[in-house]
Amino acid sequence: MTGHLPSAEVFIATSMDAYIARLDGDIDWLTSRPVPDGEDFGYAAFLDGVGAMVMGRESFEKVLTFPDWPYKTPVVVLSRTPGRVVVPEALRDRVRVSGKDPAAVLAELGAEGVTRVYLDGGQTIRSFLAEGLVRRMIVTLIPVLLGQGRPLWGHGARDVDLTLVAARSWDNGFVQVEYRA
Ligand SMILES: NC(=O)c1ccc[n+]([C@@H]2O[C@H](COP(=O)([O-])OP(=O)(O)OC[C@H]3O[C@@H](n4cnc5c(N)ncnc54)[C@H](OP(=O)(O)O)[C@@H]3O)[C@@H](O)[C@H]2O)c1
Repeated sequence: MTGHLPSAEVFIATSMDAYIARLDGDIDWLTSRPVPDGEDFGYAAFLDGVGAMVMGRESFEKVLTFPDWPYKTPVVVLSRTPGRVVVPEALRDRVRVSGKDPAAVLAELGAEGVTRVYLDGGQTIRSFLAEGLVRRMIVTLIPVLLGQGRPLWGHGARDVDLTLVAARSWDNGFVQVEYRA
């Protein structure tokens, strides 16, 4: 029974061969690409609709290298060794680190009144998929093959049936698919 849990949702970009980052974590192939003026591919609207974010420790460390912290919602950073993850002082009112399993993290956020949760990070997304906890996925395909990198998919032997909600494309070659799970 997961009906009472918040809806866990993915909004992520991958290479055509389904990597979310190079092996060293680099996402230059994504961030340096030309995009149509003013186009954000639905990201701001998606962010507006979520009440919290759950991200993996690796993604957290990547976001810490950005010039500004991009999120307004509370963020839960997952780690199997939460005590080792350092949260900068300025973020301590918004970011907490947890070693709980996916269902427990969602239940905790649900008890705080959160109804929709943004999941980020490949390992993190796979660990929620493995437990059948992902409800919505918006994946934007970037027109590049990386050949190797950090994967998005591969949660293990569990079918996750998907219902297509929308498919969109842009002149720069981005293709976005939205599914309900
Ligand atoms: N293309 C995109 O749109 C996009 C989006 C997000 C991120 N990225 C990139 O993807 C890379 C990060 O993704 P990733 O797949 O390598 O890792 P990730 O999911 O961000 O982080 C992995 C770490 O999270 C912790 N973790 C994950 N699931 C957990 C669970 N169920 N319970 C406890 N801890 C858990 C573990 O931390 P410990 O090792 O501390 O135990 C694990 O090593 C970065 O380079 C980032 O820039 C790209």
